[in-house]
Amino acid sequence: MSSFYLTSPIYYASGEPHLGHAYTTILADVLARYRRRAGEDVLFLTGTDEHGQKIQEAAAQQGIPPRELCDLMAGRFRAAWEDLNISHDRFIRTTEPGHAAVVSAILERLRDNGLIYEGEYAGWYSVGQERYFTEKEVGPDRKDPVAGGPVEHIREKNYFFRMSRFQERLRKHVEDNPEWIVPAGRRNEILGFLARPLGDLSISRPRSRIHWGIPLPWDPDQTTYVWVDALINYVTASGAVDAGAPKGRQGFGDAPLPSRWPADVHLMGKDILTTHAVYWPALLMGADLPLPRKILAHGWWVVGATKMSKSLGNVVDPLGLRDRFGTDAVRWYLMREMPTGQDASYTPERFMIRYEELSNVLGNLVHRVVSMVKRYCGGTVPSAPGHGLRREIGQAVDKYRDSMEGYRLHDGFAAAMELARTANGFVENREPWTLARDPQREGELEETLSSLVRVLAVLACLFEPVAPQKSQELARRIGLPRVPRLAELAEIAPGGQVVSSGPPLFPRVEEPQPSRAGG
Ligand code: MSP
Repeated sequence: MSSFYLTSPIYYASGEPHLGHAYTTILADVLARYRRRAGEDVLFLTGTDEHGQKIQEAAAQQGIPPRELCDLMAGRFRAAWEDLNISHDRFIRTTEPGHAAVVSAILERLRDNGLIYEGEYAGWYSVGQERYFTEKEVGPDRKDPVAGGPVEHIREKNYFFRMSRFQERLRKHVEDNPEWIVPAGRRNEILGFLARPLGDLSISRPRSRIHWGIPLPWDPDQTTYVWVDALINYVTASGAVDAGAPKGRQGFGDAPLPSRWPADVHLMGKDILTTHAVYWPALLMGADLPLPRKILAHGWWVVGATKMSKSLGNVVDPLGLRDRFGTDAVRWYLMREMPTGQDASYTPERFMIRYEELSNVLGNLVHRVVSMVKRYCGGTVPSAPGHGLRREIGQAVDKYRDSMEGYRLHDGFAAAMELARTANGFVENREPWTLARDPQREGELEETLSSLVRVLAVLACLFEPVAPQKSQELARRIGLPRVPRLAELAEIAPGGQVVSSGPPLFPRVEEPQPSRAGG
């Protein structure tokens, strides 16, 4: 069985989970579920980013120790992912002791490779983004260029990583591997970034200012920069570095350990692409570790022209629709509505259009087919070859797979919905109700219903990554023990299963009113 390792970003434990986090995580979940359906052995990693100034300040504001805030927020994220049916295999917290050990081992390796030096940093820092920005980036208004938050001027001792040494190797890697950063627009952005001289990366902060973090192994008066700490989580969870082993046997360079590294795909929003596509690969090169196989940057949920963000107080939250429409419907909306990589904005009207597809096309098909099997065949799926729609199924599955492999999830799900639409058309053309009145045409009736049940089995498989609960329910209604895997679709032979009816999979619901949350 081939293996697949995918990661979501790890979320700052300073704030509540919101739509932006949920979108990234659902996207990762859909990919993980798709890969499992394709028969792969998946490791899906998510977690919380728990160190640094942002957490330190948030905890101080609330008057609690940072650890307490982290425990609380890690719990909130876990609960949110449970509510959204996220199927992660591992939830990492950067305050786990095992992680600190891996961070130290990697920093030591960089230092042994002659890539660390001491220097003075003078410049602008944004706590919101946990990043330095140049004079030019903060502009005359002195605002962080990502979210427009405040920046502070800082002058202090830091250790630096010789990131500039890797500029050429990295630029060549991006050039030679056009599919490494997707979508292409984002890749061009990074190529543009790498066309200008790349500075070195500050990797530590004085402990007197930031105490909440991992001390540098050779200078405990300095705290590891939170992005260095955070990015390394991907390696920690993979098992690629054994920090407890003697130097030379820790997994670097020519002596790799059996592990899940390199990741098959890192997923993140476009706001944190540079850290993932520049800092991270440079750090990996410096530590003699292989690079991730792919970096996928998605767009933002926007309100007007700005990112939906808690700090901006403009969160209009479709997650609130779960109560009325169900988790699967919200997942469907988020995945179907946003072309992977582009921005999109939530509106109640668009939500309804997407919901009605589920209810009028997919839900309706399920209802009709199950009712007809009950009415005309006593509830048992007829054993007929079921050749109807074979070509259409083949084409839909091909398009679906091709889109999913190419990370165009919206296209993949559009193909699945199109198949359901075609199947509804097939019902209307064949008119099973007319066939049922004519004993001479019983064979045709059986053939028609058997074909339709086959389509439903295929649809259960195609929709499972985005609508896991409803797909399981669909499989149950047509008498299957579980949702089939992709490789099983060709052999599905309807016949003999007992169908069961139930309430509509996607019941009619009134249009949602815009709801406000967060702030
Ligand atoms: N802790 C860092 C990531 C470290 S990864 C080694 C971080 N955390 S975060 O809590 O700010 O969450 C970031 C993720 O949420 C990003 O993928 C970001 O793009 C996503 N989103 C936050 N707001 C968003 C929208 N309005 N729309 C879509 N996603 C956005 O950054």
